[in-house]
Amino acid sequence: MYQEINFEKIDLHKKPPTEEPARQYYFMAKCRQWVDAFEQKKGRLPGACVVNMGCQMNAKDSEKLKGILETVGFVLQDSEDTDFVIYNTCTVRENANNKVYGRLGTLQSIKKKNPDMMIALCGCMMQEPEVVAKIKQSYRHVDLIFGTHNLFKFAELLAQCFASKQMVIDVWEETDQIVEELPIDRKYAFKSGVNIMFGCNNFCSYCIVPYVRGRERSRKPQDILREIEALVADGVVEIMLLGQNVNSYGKNLDVPVTFARLLEEVEKIDGLERIRFMTSHPKDLSDELIAVMAKSKKICRHLHLPLQSGSSRILKKMNRHYDKEQYLSLVERIRAAVPDIAITTDIIVGFPGETEEDFLETMDVVEKVRYDSAFTFIYSKRTGTPAADMEDQIPEDVIKDRFDRLLERVQKIGTEKSKEIERTVQEVLVEEINAQDASLVSGRLSNNSVVHFPGDASMIGKLVRVSLTECKGFYYLGEVAG
Ligand code: 5AD
Ligand code: SF4
Repeated sequence: MYQEINFEKIDLHKKPPTEEPARQYYFMAKCRQWVDAFEQKKGRLPGACVVNMGCQMNAKDSEKLKGILETVGFVLQDSEDTDFVIYNTCTVRENANNKVYGRLGTLQSIKKKNPDMMIALCGCMMQEPEVVAKIKQSYRHVDLIFGTHNLFKFAELLAQCFASKQMVIDVWEETDQIVEELPIDRKYAFKSGVNIMFGCNNFCSYCIVPYVRGRERSRKPQDILREIEALVADGVVEIMLLGQNVNSYGKNLDVPVTFARLLEEVEKIDGLERIRFMTSHPKDLSDELIAVMAKSKKICRHLHLPLQSGSSRILKKMNRHYDKEQYLSLVERIRAAVPDIAITTDIIVGFPGETEEDFLETMDVVEKVRYDSAFTFIYSKRTGTPAADMEDQIPEDVIKDRFDRLLERVQKIGTEKSKEIERTVQEVLVEEINAQDASLVSGRLSNNSVVHFPGDASMIGKLVRVSLTECKGFYYLGEVAG
């Protein structure tokens, strides 16, 4: 994805360049020196473990961290009992933060056995000043902390960390910089996420993302298209365009362009078979986009359309800029244009002030839309967001009862929906050998459902026509169609 870096040409006696990405290449060369010294001393290469704790954007960032670690000579591994461990954190809900503190405690005992071990933290949680203060005070065994805005500086920070005995901390409040052409280690050879924008401008009142990911910044269409072309040349057949709110893509570019236009350009790339995108905000989903989806041969028949609440009163308090009727009418327009589309969603239960009537409005939307699947969340109070200061926080037992009722309906409907395409023949992109049964392969339909069927490793990365013999609720068993 990037031109091979010619490390021979980098002169480490000179000062580091100021421009990017040349500056990071310089620091990668520095890190390679450290790795060489490590190898000479210990007779082996250092190991590194990257733990991804968040969403698809976070997963993509982890691939960038892995790319840099591999480029400088680390051997990637899954175990945290190793020389370098980095947690790429999430902070969308409070229990995500608590998990990190718990795991840092465990790492401390590993580090006692291996005092040379280095521990790094990055991602959304590190953008919160209280978190960094707490780590500085109570988790002194952490060696490096950085945030979401300067992830591109990872090589530089790593080099700094190797040279220092102190905890290195570098968290930026904001940036307008987008650094291209850094190494990346893709999890799959045949599919890849592609960032199209960073940040979020929506300030939904419960959500911490705009505070930790900053304002919306779109990549230029030509950079995105060039990246996808290079990925396709490298064997990728499916891409997922990533952004917190892809529907507002391109609005702040020097030459503005719509997300729908970008999709049309992506569609033209020869050799690319499938296009996905995530996440769509209902308020910005245009008729232009619906029209492009309807005529596309490559855009997958899946739309993730977060509802959050079915009550217009609560949606207003959430600052979502649509009401129940507008959401339902949008779904109707989408279904009319793309009848076989699977619609999935996110729903929050127990937002401050949510009454039983409000909750029943959410249940009503669930009944009307009949989602293929839904992520259901218990409202989590995030300090610093407007909702955290709202009166009338809902008692836990009331939330739990609503949550259980919602989950039951969502699962029941999801299963019924899955049954609708049982015994049809569909195209599956094969992803891997099944973890439980090596005679099976697993892949995904255009609508994102998982299918397992007899096959072998030669099918991985290929589109195969499969007859869905049995629906098992959330997945299918199938066989290659004759
Ligand atoms: N509490 C619960 N769920 C939340 N989400 C975002 N913020 C919160 C919060 N404070 C959910 C939303 C969003 C998804 C990624 O996480 O449903 O769509
Ligand atoms: Fe959070 Fe709303 Fe932005 Fe999504 S659109 S990241 S829920 S503020």
